[in-house]
Amino acid sequence: MKLKTTLAAAALISLVSTGAMAAGDKAKGQALYTTCAACHGQNGEGQEALNAPKLAGQEEWYVVRQLQNFKTGVRGASPQDVFGMQMAPMSQLLTDDQAMEDVAAYVKSLAK
Ligand code: HEC
Repeated sequence: MKLKTTLAAAALISLVSTGAMAAGDKAKGQALYTTCAACHGQNGEGQEALNAPKLAGQEEWYVVRQLQNFKTGVRGASPQDVFGMQMAPMSQLLTDDQAMEDVAAYVKSLAK
């Protein structure tokens, strides 16, 4: 019984950590990134004047996690989080986790 629970938990963790979805599609991600470029730069280089950080070369798992954090209000929900609040509505443009994976695959591919 205990082993079963442990196995179920392990399976769940691996589902969460792999995202249990298809790998990101760079081409689709590139199309999605058009909106993002206004703040994060054409090549994902970031723009300090807008407080938009560099995304180029960033790990996909990290980008997806942050996009989920913005979308679910873990980041960018407090009025004190001025810059986070600018990013939060942008995350809503990514309609599902697959779209996040796609855009993450694209920014990862940009030269650091
Ligand atoms: C209106 C400007 C703006 C647009 C458009 C925008 N962002 Fe952002 N983004 C920001 C700002 C500002 C931050 C920094 C938030 C903070 O300080 O917490 C940010 C942060 C992020 C982060 C977190 C980076 C990290 O290292 O934690 C990711 C990932 C991100 N943006 C991805 C995107 C994607 C993908 C898009 C397009 C769907 C996008 N952004 C569109 C302004 C923007």
